[in-house]
Amino acid sequence: MINIVQIGYGYWGSNVARNISLSKKTNLAALVDKDPNRLEAAENTFHDRVELSTDYLPFLNDPEIDAFALAIQTEPSFEIAKQIMQAGKHLFIEKPMAENTEKAIILNRIAKEKNVVLHVDHIMLFHPIIRRIKQMYDEGELGDLIYFDISRMNLGPIRRDVNAMLDLAVHDLAVIDFISGGKEPYHVEAIGEKHYGNQETLTYLTLKYPGFLGHIKSSWISPIKERRTIIGGTRKMVIFDDMKTIDKLTIYDQGIIEVGTEYGSYEFKARSGDITIPYIAQEDALRNSIEHFADCVENGTESIANGDHAIKIIRILDEAREKMKINSTEPKPENEPG
Ligand SMILES: NC(=O)c1ccc[n+]([C@@H]2O[C@H](COP(=O)([O-])OP(=O)(O)OC[C@H]3O[C@@H](n4cnc5c(N)ncnc54)[C@H](O)[C@@H]3O)[C@@H](O)[C@H]2O)c1
Repeated sequence: MINIVQIGYGYWGSNVARNISLSKKTNLAALVDKDPNRLEAAENTFHDRVELSTDYLPFLNDPEIDAFALAIQTEPSFEIAKQIMQAGKHLFIEKPMAENTEKAIILNRIAKEKNVVLHVDHIMLFHPIIRRIKQMYDEGELGDLIYFDISRMNLGPIRRDVNAMLDLAVHDLAVIDFISGGKEPYHVEAIGEKHYGNQETLTYLTLKYPGFLGHIKSSWISPIKERRTIIGGTRKMVIFDDMKTIDKLTIYDQGIIEVGTEYGSYEFKARSGDITIPYIAQEDALRNSIEHFADCVENGTESIANGDHAIKIIRILDEAREKMKINSTEPKPENEPG
């Protein structure tokens, strides 16, 4: 069992802390939050089972502590993540690992120099449905990938340090990377708009990978919550709807086939087949993510969501942000001077 200090007990941090404390592989040794109200909330949940503090510094040199979980906003987490790993402690860090590639590379370098496990909470890699889809693709059941069409939207929270794309599409890019076996896009396009505050609240990201397309919609201003991934393969297509309860995955044995005509040419026809909803046992993806981290610490292995993987994702998001800047310039009306 590994001893973890968690920094940040906000909206998401409360889920992380609950799972660390419930897992048999991890022990929540202490919770740190600079906001005393959040510590009061933690006390109501954990009573005296967990040490509470507003300061993480004393834990950095505590030999009883193996690792830290960092669940604070992205921008301030960079300096703290550096300190944690420089102190030789393993790190579970919330997504996105950093706001840009430059910072992500620095964190990854420190993890390697200090030989500590750096695990980014790309939680969807640990979701049982995504794992099933990955298995289907690896075993040839989907055929070749032809597209990913993903929408991740809800109303808020409006964040100030990252935009909706960095907040949400990071999950979807991690999924595409995981399922496709590490394919990287060779063309990235993006548009977005800042409706409230200084960050884009709605973004559309389009990607061209070798052999398939990606389209990812990320929104903090939607009246409905949607977490839907459609994946088209040449043999089968799947829809993963994470808002459903037991029927999250639907498999369509359908596609387009090429048929010969009597004139010796070919035409393309829709092929209909079974639509199935497989039984997949429910698992908590966050618990799986935490336990994968714990296993890596125990066994001295690399996380599948390590720094190298996170850098690939953040690099795409950096390029998308640049494209979004270029694409946000409104054209001047005709006849307007210079
Ligand atoms: N993996 C996921 O699916 C998922 C889902 C939601 C959020 N997140 C990530 O979790 C992180 C936190 O998001 P949130 O919605 O919980 O934010 P939040 O604002 O609700 O909580 C952040 C908490 O960190 C505390 N904090 C900030 N700086 C601190 C410091 N220097 N020392 C101690 N405490 C500090 C704040 O007081 C606050 O309680 C973000 O990086 C977000 O992207 C991940």
